[in-house]
Amino acid sequence: MTNESIAVVTESQQEVLLAAALGAVQHAHIPYSKYAVGAALQAADGTVYAGCNIENASYPAGICAERVALVKAVSEGQRRFERLVVVTSNGALPCGICRQMLSEFCPALLVYTFDMQQNRRFAGSLADLLPGAFGPDQLSV
Ligand code: THU
Repeated sequence: MTNESIAVVTESQQEVLLAAALGAVQHAHIPYSKYAVGAALQAADGTVYAGCNIENASYPAGICAERVALVKAVSEGQRRFERLVVVTSNGALPCGICRQMLSEFCPALLVYTFDMQQNRRFAGSLADLLPGAFGPDQLSV
């Protein structure tokens, strides 16, 4: 496979993930912040898991879109992930709690953020976003 074809495959996978994140963001339950987030996480086997943020009248009970996608995937038996696409109004990056939870499974995860106009705002690895992460290796259990 040439570098060029790798790039093409990656772009089309990114399109699939972007479409899934744009679908999920429509379901965001955001009566409090009004800030909608959609996420799509691609597992190593290619399966895509999408999530939206789900807020709650008991504010701390709310959960971010990225973690919804992750817990859906992990609860279906997935443990290895390749790409994450996040869509927000302004292309924001995943919060620290989401970075930590994703890092448990995949420090090398490729993260792409987009705004609602589908402009890509960031592309980098989770390790870039969470340097020096605390992970399973630190626990001698
Ligand atoms: N939110 C996410 O879904 N993902 C993030 O990484 C940052 C924040 C949600 C949580 C809450 O519903 C809203 O955005 C405002 O914080």
